[in-house]
Amino acid sequence: MMNETGKATRQVPSHVAIIMDGNGRWAQARGLDRSQGHVEGVNTVRRITEVASEMGVKYLTLYAFSMENWNRPKDEVDALMHLIGIAIERETPDLIKNNVRLTMIGDVERMPSEALDRLRGCIARTSHCTGLNLNLALSYSARWEIADAARRIAYDALAGKIDAAEINEATVSSYLTTASMPDPDLLIRTGGDLRISNFLLWQIAYAEIYVTPTYWPDFTKDAFREALAQFGKRERRFGLTGEQIRAI
Ligand code: FPP
Repeated sequence: MMNETGKATRQVPSHVAIIMDGNGRWAQARGLDRSQGHVEGVNTVRRITEVASEMGVKYLTLYAFSMENWNRPKDEVDALMHLIGIAIERETPDLIKNNVRLTMIGDVERMPSEALDRLRGCIARTSHCTGLNLNLALSYSARWEIADAARRIAYDALAGKIDAAEINEATVSSYLTTASMPDPDLLIRTGGDLRISNFLLWQIAYAEIYVTPTYWPDFTKDAFREALAQFGKRERRFGLTGEQIRAI
């Protein structure tokens, strides 16, 4: 594959992170309850997991529930937690069949046990899978994650397990919930808002950002392929000049 400058495009991104926004607006535009938008959003999760797997993406991190989302009306939170549990239970056999490994990041202990037990069951049952890693951000907040990492680094330094003078970027990365994953190459946000919403603040330092006005329930496989095609046309410079990058 060649891009506009005739240079071979980079591979498919290893890690795609998605802020799945617009479920509520999708439902409200149809006179439906917001929860119906989340139900439809689960179908999109399935679709996008399939296409990411087909395209050879290694890590797909989905922002399924932020720490701030706990402050939504109780009915909506309850419905969403119930839905996540049901969806995970239902999809586990297909995840295994498609060699998809489930992981999760976030302060998940806050989740009701109905959903959490099912998530943990699915994580255990897919732990041998070697294809796509589907990583759900649940009760997640990037500031919480960074503060948590700082606290654990401090304790380990006090305990003499690490040398405070040696703490560097790699140390911090290794204490984050994503320690075992490469940083996202591409961050997609559906629903049109131009913000990061406390998602993977450390890890997206050099991610390419792609925002589409499409609401998450309407986000198709082709729309995902288009996001990856746009990513392929970007020149990632990592702070260098274009000339330097082209010389590499
Ligand atoms: C944002 O839309 C979406 C969420 C807060 C929840 C997303 C969760 C799912 C799609 C279900 C995930 C399920 C599994 C199994 C991972 P919004 O309600 O903020 O939309 P709005 O901006 O239009 O109000």
